[in-house]
Amino acid sequence: MNLPGTICINAQGHLEVGGCDLVELAKTHGTPLYVLDEDGIRQKCQEYLNAFRVNYHRFKVLYAGKAFSTMAIFRLVDQEGLGIDVVSGGELYTALAADFPPEKIYFHGNNKSMEELNFALSAGVGQIVVDNLYELETLAQLVEGRKKTVDILLRLTPGIETHTHHYIQTGQLDSKFGISLAGGTALKAIKQALGYRRLRLRGIHCHIGSQVHNTESFALAARRMVEFLAEVKEETGRQLAELNLGGGLGISYTDGDKPKSIRDYIGEITTAVKVACGELGLEPPLLVVEPGRSLVGEAGVALYRIGAIKEIEGIRTYVSVDGGMYDNPRPALYDAKYEAIVANKADRTPTEKYTIAGKCCESGDILIEDTCLPAVEVGDLIAVPSSGAYQYAMASNYNRLPRPAVLMAAKGRAEVIVRRETYNDLLRYDRIPLSWEGRKSLPQVM
Ligand SMILES: Cc1ncc(COP(=O)(O)O)c(C=O)c1O
Repeated sequence: MNLPGTICINAQGHLEVGGCDLVELAKTHGTPLYVLDEDGIRQKCQEYLNAFRVNYHRFKVLYAGKAFSTMAIFRLVDQEGLGIDVVSGGELYTALAADFPPEKIYFHGNNKSMEELNFALSAGVGQIVVDNLYELETLAQLVEGRKKTVDILLRLTPGIETHTHHYIQTGQLDSKFGISLAGGTALKAIKQALGYRRLRLRGIHCHIGSQVHNTESFALAARRMVEFLAEVKEETGRQLAELNLGGGLGISYTDGDKPKSIRDYIGEITTAVKVACGELGLEPPLLVVEPGRSLVGEAGVALYRIGAIKEIEGIRTYVSVDGGMYDNPRPALYDAKYEAIVANKADRTPTEKYTIAGKCCESGDILIEDTCLPAVEVGDLIAVPSSGAYQYAMASNYNRLPRPAVLMAAKGRAEVIVRRETYNDLLRYDRIPLSWEGRKSLPQVM
């Protein structure tokens, strides 16, 4: 397996992240544990910025916070010069708590509540990405009431099919997100948006899917969006200033994944935009992308301790670990594939086939089916690379399991950025109805 960033095998034959031995980190912090390669994330941020610098004149790179939303990660991407996009009041609150500059925040979501919109307006977020006409009208009323002006983008669905898993396609026509380009719907929405005096329509947005390897679909979406900008100009006389092409670049989870490099991806979309603008006589717009997975995904390693091992003669051997679908629901949700490394035997040759099972009470809680590893025993450490995106962010307390700790590792030092949950944390929101007072235990029904 190709190890990205600072992830490597050290002289002891152990897996290492940011110069920290994972065997030692497991001893100190326990398992399950998420370890992020700080320099790996910083490097990806710079790859995006550098790829733009050599290809395009005006651009912004936003980190899609939904991939992994914590204060430390928001702070890190701010240090690297990126903006962010958030999709809920909670993500916005986290970013503001990390002192993220509000003007560099874009606010997404297909059903933003009134409370969230008010919060975003009070916080002074840079742009609101309006997803539908209901939101457009609601926002127009809110800003009128507040006598405030706000910058907006309209999220559109350009109708591009991407060859990725069905559930994570969002750009096709049949999608809960955005306003369709087809049938003049988007043009009508643009005209409506231009009619509100307190909404400043900056441009348009699309996001065609996630974990996408075939970058031609991004270039195709870019072309369609530029064609639409030309149509808007012809119909309204206005050239919109900004084109946001969303995120979606795939990463490597298994040896079978062959993602394009960030440089090639940015090269392709900037070329598509420049060529289409040239042909259609448009000024190339401010170009924005919102990568999530490709910034943090490969920088994360999930670390688990092996417990029960169950061999079913002639069928398979289940290796159960102390994590599972509660910290990583992706295999159960999307049939996502991963590979594993035995962190304390990382230099040994894989000889055995195992199925890595989670500890949740669900037969479907299988993290990796049929993976090849060196012979394992109880107490060994299973490391799952490419665990930095959409895992901890989607973690739950299913089966009342406390969520793991998250560490940021760099230059031989690892610091906790999210502490491990305790049993007490699990009870934080529980209440026993007051009317049951004095009734310590429920009557026994035999
Ligand atoms: C609107 C939008 N932007 C950006 C992203 C980030 O996508 P990715 O993590 O695949 O780069 C998503 C993911 O679903 C999204 O919905």
